[in-house]
Amino acid sequence: MRITFLNQKGGVGKSTVSILIGAALQSAGYRVAFDDQDPQQSIRLWASQVGGLPLLENSPENDIIICDTPGRLDLNQSSPLSQLIAISNRNILVCEKSLFSTHASVPMVEFVKRYQQPGARSCVLFNKVRSTTLVGKQNVSELSADLGLPALNNFLPLAAPFENVQTMGFNAVTGKHRELVLTLALEILKES
Ligand SMILES: Nc1ncnc2c1ncn2[C@@H]1O[C@H](COP(=O)(O)OP(=O)(O)OP(=O)(O)O)[C@@H](O)[C@H]1O
Ligand SMILES: [Mg+2]
Repeated sequence: MRITFLNQKGGVGKSTVSILIGAALQSAGYRVAFDDQDPQQSIRLWASQVGGLPLLENSPENDIIICDTPGRLDLNQSSPLSQLIAISNRNILVCEKSLFSTHASVPMVEFVKRYQQPGARSCVLFNKVRSTTLVGKQNVSELSADLGLPALNNFLPLAAPFENVQTMGFNAVTGKHRELVLTLALEILKES
């Protein structure tokens, strides 16, 4: 299974979520490898400096490939991203739960719908959610209807352990945060 995290908007958490979901699925017993398709090479850097998960080239035998993609894309140009979408079983649009972020993500939703393979599942993952603010409390089904893509039931709050994964790896994520990431990872694997 290939799971691709994407959004042409920068800084929404694609690389962080790639690491979290990869590490959670590895902890659930799957053989996971990273395919870092972002020229910024955040995942490659993380794999060499923090580690815990192999890159695809070092782990050709695997059950799940986690693919990280660039921010700041011009979707009007023919993009290698269309090919990545076409070979993915899951396309997960990582999006902050804000009007600005969802609005900026609409072109990517259209791009995903155009190139996804039959039988693939594409959905929105809300990340960095602040549940106490009015923006954070917005109705998820209304936002996903605006976006034109179903939202995953589970979302990730803005939380220090998720930020710390960058330097400390999955060990930074414990207790209820770890349970949440695992539940989310299994929801992503589900057929529908
Ligand atoms: N749920 C979260 N809680 C707290 N911090 C988060 C969360 N998700 C991501 N971050 C932080 O937000 C910043 C941006 O995240 P990240 O680099 O993963 O985004 P990105 O979409 O991959 O960016 P780019 O488009 O530049 O590749 C990082 O500092 C990361 O630690
Ligand atoms: Mg990134």
